[in-house]
Amino acid sequence: MTKGSDMKQNAKGVGLAIIGGGRVGLFRGEVAARHPAVEWIGLAEKSPNRAGEVGPKISADFVTQSHVELINRPETTAVIIATDEHLHVDPIMAAIERGLPMLIEKPLATNLAESAKVLKLIKDAKIDAVVGYTQRFRRRWLAAKEKCRTGALGDVTLVTSRAFMNRLVAIDNYKRTDDPSTISPLVISGTHALDICMWCLDGKKPVEVYARSIDKVLGPLYQGIDATAGMIMFDDGTVYHLNISWALPVTWPGAVYSLEVGIVGTTGVLTIDDTHRDIVLAVSKAQSEGYAPDQTRLVDFMGSYPPGDMALGELRGPMADETVSWLDRVAMGLPTVAATVDEAHRNLMLTKALDLSAKRKQSIKLPLGDADFAAVA
Ligand SMILES: NC(=O)c1ccc[n+]([C@@H]2O[C@H](COP(=O)([O-])OP(=O)(O)OC[C@H]3O[C@@H](n4cnc5c(N)ncnc54)[C@H](O)[C@@H]3O)[C@@H](O)[C@H]2O)c1
Repeated sequence: MTKGSDMKQNAKGVGLAIIGGGRVGLFRGEVAARHPAVEWIGLAEKSPNRAGEVGPKISADFVTQSHVELINRPETTAVIIATDEHLHVDPIMAAIERGLPMLIEKPLATNLAESAKVLKLIKDAKIDAVVGYTQRFRRRWLAAKEKCRTGALGDVTLVTSRAFMNRLVAIDNYKRTDDPSTISPLVISGTHALDICMWCLDGKKPVEVYARSIDKVLGPLYQGIDATAGMIMFDDGTVYHLNISWALPVTWPGAVYSLEVGIVGTTGVLTIDDTHRDIVLAVSKAQSEGYAPDQTRLVDFMGSYPPGDMALGELRGPMADETVSWLDRVAMGLPTVAATVDEAHRNLMLTKALDLSAKRKQSIKLPLGDADFAAVA
C-alpha cells in the first residue's frame, strides 16, 4: 500500500479552471483555494459584475468571461463546470478537446440526446470525469451504501423515497427558462434522491417505469409540474417507489431538500430520516447569513441546503468534501465515491422516462426504444 507521504510527494499540481462563478462555482472555488495541490485558479463567468465579486473570493489568478479562453490557457489542467443546468454542454466539449479531467455539476445535459453524445465523447477520449451528486458524501448515505454493498439487508427488494421541497427552487428554475418542458421536479431535484437509491441498488437493471404528475400550483403559473410519484421496476422483480413535490408552500421549513428513504431487503431493513427536523431554527427577523432565499421564512430545518452550511467563514459539509475528494483524485489519483458519467446519464434517462410515463399515463419499457428516446430527447 502506498503511504500518504509518498502520495503527497508524487502529487501533481493542479491548474484549476472554474466555469460559472454562481453559488456553486463560488463554494467550490473557495474550497479549492485552500487545497494544497491547487497552484493556479482561473474563473470564467459570463456576468462581469459576478466575476468581479467572485474572483477575489476564490483567489483567482485569471478571470475572463469566456470559458473557451480559460479552458485553452496553458495553466489549466482540470476543470469544474458549474454553469446553469442547461449550459453544461459547451464547456464540457471544450474540456474534452483538451483531454482535461472534469467535475461537472448535475445533470450532464438537460437533453437526453446531448447527454448521450457527451457521455460517448468523454468515454472515447478516456477522460476522468465525475458528476456532482453531492449527497453521496454525507455519512448517512455512505453508511446506507455500505450496508447494501456488504449484504447486511440480504437481497434488497424494495426502496422508497419521499422528497419534499418548498416551491422556491421550482419558481427559480421556471423563471429562468424559456422552455418549461425541460424543467421538472425529477430532472432538476429528484435526481439527487434517485442517485442515492440507485447507488444502493447498484448492479440491478431497471426494465420499466411508471409515473403520474400533478400540476395544480405551478401549472397555471409557469406551465410547470408540482409533483411526480413513480415506480421503477428491475429485472429481478425489485421495485423502487419514489415521489417528489417541489410545490410545498414557501413556509415549509425545509430550506431545500427533505428526504425519507426506506430500504427493505430479504433479511433486513434500513430507514433514513433525512428531513432535517433534528435542528429547527425559529427567528423573529429574517436571517441574511448563509442560504436565505426568502425573507418571509422565519423557521428553518437547518442542514436542508444540499451543499452544506456556512460556519466561521467556510462552507462545511458535502460539497466541500466532494470538491476535496475530486482534487485529491486529480492530484494524487485517489479513488472517489463521486458519481460517474455513466451513472449521471442513467439518472437523467430514468427521470426523463418517468416524466414521459406521467405525460402519457402509460408505463415505459427500458431500455428506451428509438421512438421513446426521441420523445424524451
Ligand atoms: N450538487 C449540488 O448539491 C448542487 C446544488 C446547487 C446547484 N447545483 C448545480 O450546479 C450548477 C450551477 O448552479 P448554481 O446554483 O451555482 O447556479 P447560478 O445561476 O448561481 O450560477 C451559474 C453561473 O454560471 C454562469 N455561466 C453560465 N454559462 C457560462 C459560461 N459558458 N461561461 C461562464 N459563465 C457561465 C452564469 O452567469 C452564472 O453566474 C447547476 O447545474 C445546478 O444544478 C448542484
